[in-house]
Amino acid sequence: MPVAQKMPPPRLVRLVERLREGVFRLHQRMMPPPVTMLEMITAGMVSQAVQVAATLGIADVLAEGPLTPEEIARQVGADADGVRRLLRALASQGVFRADRSGRFALTPLASTLRSDAEMPMRSIAIFTNAPEQREHWSHLLDAVRTGEPVMEKVRGVDVWTFFEKNEELADVFNDAMTDFSNFTLAPVTAAYDFRPFTSVVDVGGGQGAMLAAILARAPRAEGVVFDLSSAVAGAADTLRNAGLADRARVEAGSFLERVPEGGDCYLLKNVLHNWPDEEVALILRNVRRAIAPGGRLLIIELIIPEGNGSHPGKLSDLDMLLLVGGRERTEAESRTLLANAGFRLDRVIQTASPLSVLEATPV
Ligand SMILES: C[S@@+](CC[C@H](N)C(=O)[O-])C[C@H]1O[C@@H](n2cnc3c(N)ncnc32)[C@H](O)[C@@H]1O
Repeated sequence: MPVAQKMPPPRLVRLVERLREGVFRLHQRMMPPPVTMLEMITAGMVSQAVQVAATLGIADVLAEGPLTPEEIARQVGADADGVRRLLRALASQGVFRADRSGRFALTPLASTLRSDAEMPMRSIAIFTNAPEQREHWSHLLDAVRTGEPVMEKVRGVDVWTFFEKNEELADVFNDAMTDFSNFTLAPVTAAYDFRPFTSVVDVGGGQGAMLAAILARAPRAEGVVFDLSSAVAGAADTLRNAGLADRARVEAGSFLERVPEGGDCYLLKNVLHNWPDEEVALILRNVRRAIAPGGRLLIIELIIPEGNGSHPGKLSDLDMLLLVGGRERTEAESRTLLANAGFRLDRVIQTASPLSVLEATPV
């Protein structure tokens, strides 16, 4: 189970990130700018090649050891020359590795595409470059010109309705969200002590994985996953399978209207970034009305740092603009939204993942 993983200290992770940023900038300064720009322009090809390897399940096929392109192609139902060229291109990026005899093997990067990887990236790779998502991103120009999401224009419905109508894509999306969630559960539960709480409400808690991980760490606590009726059935399964049926329950509803009353810990993980400021204000006010005196609100998001450094939130922010009209926010922006809803931002806790935990108390 991912939460049992030992996490590196967030400070060490930030140091490594700064070193990487330094090397990256140095590399950029040393290369002729057109060469670096060409690499950026073609970066989407790498991403698409990863998606193809993930979709074909090549990393699973190589789990037992190296194989020739012909052997791989037979097992995944593809063309041997196509597979060889795909894997040669990916090996040039450190994903897969060819030996002298021309057989391909897994590398640590390629292993993340295995279905049974400890923190699998396969579904994220498949969803990010699914044809529909590529089509949405091809409208980024529109979103930047208008400041509006493009879904209504491109699909005639919002993104959630579009997923509802496309079950296959919805499955790919849900699997990707589960992979994202697994990627962040261990860092979040390692960075924040949930043991003092007795009643945790995961607002927009999705499939319930976060609440299950928290309750595993906080044996005194009970919990509720609050989400739309379309999501809570999956959450009930997660909680039952985790042996938490006696301490956790699900409740269906819209956080734009209300949230369950009386918790001493309210979580909003990867929820607020889906919404414009007006709806965020509404959600926060609903939590403010429901939270027990002395309770804590924890917002878990990609908090955009000041300055020009790289951070995944800066690209995810474009995804939010494009698909849902939401945004990734800075600490200052979050502080203001919290204050306007009757909360004081007390601490910003870094995790070993790019997510931060914003701890706020009602005032
Ligand atoms: C990006 S997902 C995050 C899920 C989960 N917190 C996580 O981190 O994996 C956003 C969640 O908000 C839920 N949601 C969207 N609109 C909602 C509403 N009006 N009321 C309650 N939940 C809603 C979605 O169903 C989804 O589970």
